[in-house]
Amino acid sequence: MSKILVTGGAGYIGSHTVVELKNAGYQPIIVDDFSNSQESALAGIESILGTAVPIYRIDCGDEAALRGVFEAEKDIKGVIHFAAFKAVGESVARPLDYFRNNVGSLLTLLAVMPDFGVENLVFSSSCTVYGIPDALPVTEATPTKPASSPYGRTKQMCEEIVHDVSAAPTNTLRTILLRYFNPIGAHESAKIGELPLGVPNNLVPFITQTAAGIREKLTIYGNDYDTPDGTNVRDYIHVVDLAKAHIVAVQRLLDRKASEPVETFNVGTGRGNSVLEVVHAFEQASGQKLNYSIGPRRPGDVPAIYADATKAATVLGFKTETSLADSLASSWKWQQTLAKK
Ligand code: UFG
Repeated sequence: MSKILVTGGAGYIGSHTVVELKNAGYQPIIVDDFSNSQESALAGIESILGTAVPIYRIDCGDEAALRGVFEAEKDIKGVIHFAAFKAVGESVARPLDYFRNNVGSLLTLLAVMPDFGVENLVFSSSCTVYGIPDALPVTEATPTKPASSPYGRTKQMCEEIVHDVSAAPTNTLRTILLRYFNPIGAHESAKIGELPLGVPNNLVPFITQTAAGIREKLTIYGNDYDTPDGTNVRDYIHVVDLAKAHIVAVQRLLDRKASEPVETFNVGTGRGNSVLEVVHAFEQASGQKLNYSIGPRRPGDVPAIYADATKAATVLGFKTETSLADSLASSWKWQQTLAKK
């Protein structure tokens, strides 16, 4: 079983990826400092898999500690690097923390990996690198635009760092950059899912908490955009589908099939849905009437973005499987499970 180090492996996307890795025959090794994740994710993973996954409770920006992990595990074959801060608004208030954590942890990893002969990296990037695109859907060749937040800038900078490191004459690193669209939903077992701390920033956890009575009502941030119903359009991908894209990417790297030192893929459904469509799809999927109203626009929101998913389909053979309705139903099931706890 090839060992794959998963930084941020107790987080939302990380935990689902750990499960899919193990199911695909890999041995995931988790690194997480629990600064934005919870220990309960480990119990969920263990319960789904019927076995515990090795975990190192360290900050992956701590070089000595990270070296210790590579030393202890010896033959790590690849790294999936999720560990990062991800709240757009918070990044505006605390930019230095974002640069230090998101860029710093990548730099530390890139410094340590070659010393242990680890050449394969899958990096969590984001559709945020496209900024406000001129045309839709966005392909991997769509030019990136100025990011609307320090968070977005860290993703752009990390992509550039990987490109520069890979262009060095002595480079042996192979990287797949996965540009995620909007992950939603939870594992079908409802044993792992998204655990937002405090008031959720993201749409779907806000919807499920409102339906559960934790929040009074959802505010839709603007209905005067130049979109079919005036609300923002996004590409909502089920988190297990997204997790599976990492397995395909890791396999491609281990099989030495990557055609270039750095390959970039959009990971989305290729489908754009408006906020109102998501609200109505949730109402249908859950049987709950949602209390919502239209409010002002949220600064920094991109009017519309969704993926051209052709490259992932043709090159990786990756296609999403879960409908918006099923994704939202899984979010609702997860919310109800959380409420019982
Ligand atoms: N929205 C609301 N009300 C809410 C929350 C969100 O109307 O209470 C709307 C937003 O305006 C947006 C849509 O729902 O139109 C989705 O918002 P999210 O916050 O869930 O997701 P974003 O598309 O803003 O952000 C996501 C990721 C970021 C990433 C960004 C890039 O969460 O990590 O995409 O566009 F940077």
